[in-house]
Amino acid sequence: MKVDVYATIKDVEKEKIRHADAVVIDVLRMTSTVTNALSNGAGKIRLIGDESKARKLSERENCLLGGERGGKKLDGFDFGNSPLEYTKQKVSGKAIVMTTTNGARAAEAACGAKSVRLCSFLNVYSVSERLKDSEHVAVLCAGTHDLFSLDDCLCAGALCSYLKADEENDLAIAMRLLFETHKGDLTGALERTKHYRYLKSIGFYEDLAFCLAMNTHEKVPVMEEDGWFV
Ligand code: MLT
Repeated sequence: MKVDVYATIKDVEKEKIRHADAVVIDVLRMTSTVTNALSNGAGKIRLIGDESKARKLSERENCLLGGERGGKKLDGFDFGNSPLEYTKQKVSGKAIVMTTTNGARAAEAACGAKSVRLCSFLNVYSVSERLKDSEHVAVLCAGTHDLFSLDDCLCAGALCSYLKADEENDLAIAMRLLFETHKGDLTGALERTKHYRYLKSIGFYEDLAFCLAMNTHEKVPVMEEDGWFV
């Protein structure tokens, strides 16, 4: 198996991932939120980068609408991007369109790969189990506004640590080594990072604790042919 980790989606060339199993990571918070929503029984989730396209799709399909800009819920939306909002009671059996600043764009960038799955610390072991027979895994870290984000890359390192690939690109090696050093204290490793501090400053402290708990979920969101994640 070969694993390539990409720090941001601007580093990803469509042609290079066409035959790969893609894994999208946006730890804080999109991939954690979608994993929790589907674990809580949501029927299907569609990720759209553009806000107005997301609004139109949710109207056309008559489904719920979730997501954020600047980490905050948008006017007229049913949900923000906090995983804790997506409870069984609210999401069971529902189709949800979501738009988020970085994560949804990363999911769109992964379209066209052989398969597309969503990974976070919540489900990283389960993701590795689904990929154990893959020949090529391409890990797309969402990053923040096209810049490297340590939370996503550290989670990519956790995935690499489970996958034990024969071949890894340099970022995969670096992040695997970093994860192995810090796996006992993910909060300690991430609490000074920009997006962690920002989410804390706008009141999402509980989300941070939730998103940094490892392997609490078995659900692995996977993109179907029609672009919806189930
Ligand atoms: C994103 O997609 O940029 C994030 O999930 C932002 C957030 O933490 O809400």
